[in-house]
Amino acid sequence: MKYSILSLILATLFIVGCNNAKESSTQKKVNTSKKTTVSTIDKTDTDVVKLIINSNDQMQYDKKVLKVKTGSKVQLTLNHTGKMPKDMMGHNWVLLKKDTDIAAFATKSMAAKATDYIPDSDAVIAHTKTLGGGESTTITFDAPEKGEYDFICSFPAHYALMKGKFIVE
Ligand code: CU
Repeated sequence: MKYSILSLILATLFIVGCNNAKESSTQKKVNTSKKTTVSTIDKTDTDVVKLIINSNDQMQYDKKVLKVKTGSKVQLTLNHTGKMPKDMMGHNWVLLKKDTDIAAFATKSMAAKATDYIPDSDAVIAHTKTLGGGESTTITFDAPEKGEYDFICSFPAHYALMKGKFIVE
């Protein structure tokens, strides 16, 4: 009697053991296929961070802070949701290098109407064109190194209200 109970226990253990082995091998397979999918996405899409920032006739952006991860490709869309023409209420999005004197840069921008208010300056990391009401534009650029950067609208006198932080984590 003792013997048969023991063998029953052993047999049960054996079956359980087999099931576990099966389960873990199935899990491994699932994990592997998941990994493959993720790494495929990495190469195509995951590295691209899509940001949308809206601007309006009240001289405002709808975001004060934009955050991305180090090494990402940034696809930024600027929308002008207002109705006013570009000459009166033009908006752009300009990302500036660290420690840029924003007031000095904005003064230079005022004189740069011919180049869409983007002055000849090495302080610019990335910028969109200047939009009028109802327009949109998208740019793609590589996120700069880790840190905190300023972004502004360089249309004359707009940077006082239209500015924010671009944070690379
Ligand atoms: Cu503006």
